[in-house]
Amino acid sequence: MSMLRIFSPLLLAVLLVSALADDAPKPPEPLYETRAEHDRNGIGKFFMGREIAHVMGHQAADWLERPEREEEERTDLLIESLKLREGEVVADIGCGSGYISRKIAKKTGPTGVIYGVEIQQEMLDLLMKRMAMFRITTVKPILGTITDPKLPPASCDTMIMVDVYHEFDFPYEMIQNMIAGLKPGGRIVFVEYRKEDPAVPIKEVHKMSETQVKKEMTAHPALEYAETIATLPRQHIIIFKKKAGDK
Ligand SMILES: C[S@@+](CC[C@H](N)C(=O)[O-])C[C@H]1O[C@@H](n2cnc3c(N)ncnc32)[C@H](O)[C@@H]1O
Repeated sequence: MSMLRIFSPLLLAVLLVSALADDAPKPPEPLYETRAEHDRNGIGKFFMGREIAHVMGHQAADWLERPEREEEERTDLLIESLKLREGEVVADIGCGSGYISRKIAKKTGPTGVIYGVEIQQEMLDLLMKRMAMFRITTVKPILGTITDPKLPPASCDTMIMVDVYHEFDFPYEMIQNMIAGLKPGGRIVFVEYRKEDPAVPIKEVHKMSETQVKKEMTAHPALEYAETIATLPRQHIIIFKKKAGDK
């Protein structure tokens, strides 16, 4: 009888913990789905109902540096809204030719570090050429893979993806590996063209809704939603944080 009295609360606690663990969000299974019928700008591979877009080739890098970009995207407002501090360690994931990296570098100053992560070596060559042109020495190039940004573990305060996430061939694996590179409490920033707005002149698979970004992040229990900033003319800024207790 006395044994029962000791064990029943213990048993209850075990049952409760396992029930809670079962409630924890899980990645979908299978992770990806391929469909024969799909958008011609997409790769026919779907993650949580969304078609993944083709990667923008380095041949189109001039588009990233177009003079009208500032007016269209107001990257000045984007950078201001991030409230970057001097000395911060930032990863610019899918940095392209470094249009965003060099604006970040101004904010993080001489003691900051910006990891420019790319899967195309040609983009990294352009990035370093431009950084030399602007005499910026705090940007470090990293050649990642389609599943792994190859960042030092728990090294970054902020990771930013400007018009990038929707192109990830393996979004689940990429975000998992990005989380490993974030300091606890660090931020992951999504800047994506608003799918909710038909007036935004971008191909459908290159846009994302806020609901879809949030839905896909439920597959990563280490992240918590922080905020959405709606100051940009065409994109949302959606921010998640790595939970403080997560390594
Ligand atoms: C549309 S461009 C945006 C470039 C830059 N963020 C900007 O706003 O100027 C998207 C870039 O993401 C890169 N990319 C796509 N998948 C990637 C991945 N898994 N890891 C790193 N970069 C990736 C592509 O190579 C391409 O250069």
